[in-house]
Amino acid sequence: MKAAVTSAPAKAILFGEHFVVYGKPAIAAALKRRVRATSTLNDVGEIRVRSMLGYSSIPLPCTDPYLYEYDPHRHIIFSAASVMRLLNKHVGVDILLESDFPYGMGLGASAATSVATIASVASLFGSISRNEVFRLSLEAERLVHRNPSGIDSAVCTYGGLLLFKDGRIERLDARDGYNHALHALRFMVVNSGMVKDTGAMVMKVKARGESSREEFASLAEMSEALTMQALYAIRCNDLARIGELLTLNHGLLRMLGVSNDTLDAIVCRLVKNGAYGAKLTGAGGGGCIISLIDEARSTMLLNALGGYETFISGIEDDGVIIHRMYT
Ligand code: PMV
Repeated sequence: MKAAVTSAPAKAILFGEHFVVYGKPAIAAALKRRVRATSTLNDVGEIRVRSMLGYSSIPLPCTDPYLYEYDPHRHIIFSAASVMRLLNKHVGVDILLESDFPYGMGLGASAATSVATIASVASLFGSISRNEVFRLSLEAERLVHRNPSGIDSAVCTYGGLLLFKDGRIERLDARDGYNHALHALRFMVVNSGMVKDTGAMVMKVKARGESSREEFASLAEMSEALTMQALYAIRCNDLARIGELLTLNHGLLRMLGVSNDTLDAIVCRLVKNGAYGAKLTGAGGGGCIISLIDEARSTMLLNALGGYETFISGIEDDGVIIHRMYT
C-alpha cells in the first residue's frame, strides 16, 4: 500500500499578531513540537480524515469545499482536494493526523495540519515545492479564518524564526548578524486550557478598528515599534530586553481587547517568578502564553504556575519534512 509520512512544526507568534493582518510587521518562531500526516491511497474514492478532532469522509470529486463548512476537517479536505487538482490526480486518500501539541490553542495547528497534509498527499503522486505548499496552505487557511496574514502557514512550511514585513517573509536565523545564540533561546509555552476562536477574535479586532480608528492606528504604530525594537534586541541577544518587549506586547494586546483575566494572571505569574517576559500568542481570547525563560528557573516557574499544561521549546529549524514513503 502506497503511503507518505510528513510532519510540520507548531508555531508561536512572538511579536505583532493581529496588526500583521493590517500590514504591520510580526516575528514568529517554529517550535519543536510537530504534527504528523500519514496519507495512504484507498480504493473507495473518498477523502477520509482521522485526527483528535474525529473522523470525516468526503466522496470525490470534492468540487465545493464550502459544502463542508461545518466539518472540523474542512481545511484538510480542502488541502487534499487542492493538491489533487494541482497534480490532476483524483484518487481516494486516507489521512491520519497525529499531533504532539494541542489544537485550537494559538500554536498554528490548523496551518501545521494543512501543510503536513499537502506535502503528504502530494508525495503520493509526485513532488511539490515548499512555495506551493505555502500557497495551498494559505488558501486552506482562508477557508477557516477568512483573512489570514499567512504567518502561520509560512512558519509551519519554512520553520525557523521569521520576520513578516512589507509583504515579505524573511528567515531571521539565516540573516547575517543573527547568530547561533538564537538556538539557545528557551521558551516556556503555557496552555491556558481555554479554547480560542481565531476567526471570532480577528472579527472583534476588525470591529474595534472600525469603531475607533485613531486609537487602533496608534496601537498599530506601537505594535510596529515593539516589533522593530524586538528585532534589534534579538540581534543583540539581549534576553532581558526581548522579555520586556514580550510583556509590553501583551499589554498592547490587552488594550486591543484580546486578552482576559486568565491570560493576564498567567503572564503575571511568569514574570513575577523570573521569566524574562511573557505574552499571549496568536489570536488571544484563550490559547497559549509564550514566555522567554532561563531554563535553570523552570522548576520555580512550574511551581508558580500550578497545574497548567506546559512545555519548553527552542526554535525549530525545520519546516515541513517528508519522512518516509512506503509502496
Ligand atoms: O491563534 P492563531 O494561531 O490562529 O494565530 C492568529 C494570528 C492572527 O494574527 C491573530 C491572525 C493572522 O492571520 O495573522
